[in-house]
This record gives sequence, C-alpha cells and structure tokens, in this order.
Amino acid sequence: MNFLVINGPNLNLLGLREPEIYGRQDFAALQSFIRRAAAEAGVEVELFQHNHEGAIVDKIQAAYGVFDGIVINPAAYTHTSVAILDALKAVALPAVEVHLSDVSKRESFRQISYAGMACVKTYMGLGFEGYREAIHYLRQYIEGERA
Ligand code: DQA
Repeated sequence: MNFLVINGPNLNLLGLREPEIYGRQDFAALQSFIRRAAAEAGVEVELFQHNHEGAIVDKIQAAYGVFDGIVINPAAYTHTSVAILDALKAVALPAVEVHLSDVSKRESFRQISYAGMACVKTYMGLGFEGYREAIHYLRQYIEGERA
C-alpha cells in the first residue's frame, strides 16, 4: 500500500511556530516520525509539504491512480479551501484528516473543516501521534474495503 501524506502551509515552521500550540519538535522530526509510523504499518509513503493552495490541489490530482490513500493536514486551508475539498472528492481516494492541535477547542474560524468533509476520519489534538493513528486507520480502512 502506498500513501501520500500532505502537510499544508506553515507546518514547515514547526518548532519555531507557536511552540505552546504545536510543540518544540521541528518539521524534519515530523517527517522522520511519519516515515517510521509508515514503516511500522507496512505502507510506503511519499511526503509532500507546500505553502500554496494550488500546489496542494495539483498534488491531490496527481495522486489519482498512483496512491491508495491520502493523509492530509491542510493546516490553515482546512478552514478556507473548497478547492482542496473538491480535489479530494474528484480523485475519491480514501483520505484521513490530521491536526496537531485540537482545533475544536480553538477559535471559531477554525470550527469548519472543508477538507474534512471528504475524509473518512479526523484525528486532532494528538500531536505527531495523530499521523501514526491516521496511517494505521487508513490501512485498515482500505483493507476492509478490499475484503
Ligand atoms: C493545524 C490547525 C490549523 O487551524 C492551523 O491553521 C494550522 C495547523 C494543526 O495541525 O493543528 O496551521 O492544522
């Protein structure tokens, strides 16, 4: 199984950015964590981070026929991007949404998730661990679909 893991804007600044919310570990540490979690789950991963909405849309489109599923933390685009929602719906790959922080306990403008409307599950507030949970869940979900 082959997953695409997408991280949206400003996640490349982990460690620097609001450490009281996102923790002190940097983005390289997150990437290593995701690679380890994928290896544990027996799935291959490609990691993609971009700060531009259109680049994320292009990557989701290009995932069609290449990947079995998508793990996505759209970051701020979660709450604004109908384009990312539409791209996820267009390719119709099973997708799981991840947020490092518990967005449900944050500002009102973070209470809507467009991307989440195209995802089979959301993990939030678990820090890096959310990505591990997402990878395991997605693998089981796809196995279930194929059974
Ligand atoms: C985030 C939550 C978003 O609201 C925020 O804009 C981010 C990160 C998270 O991982 O907790 O950039 O997606």
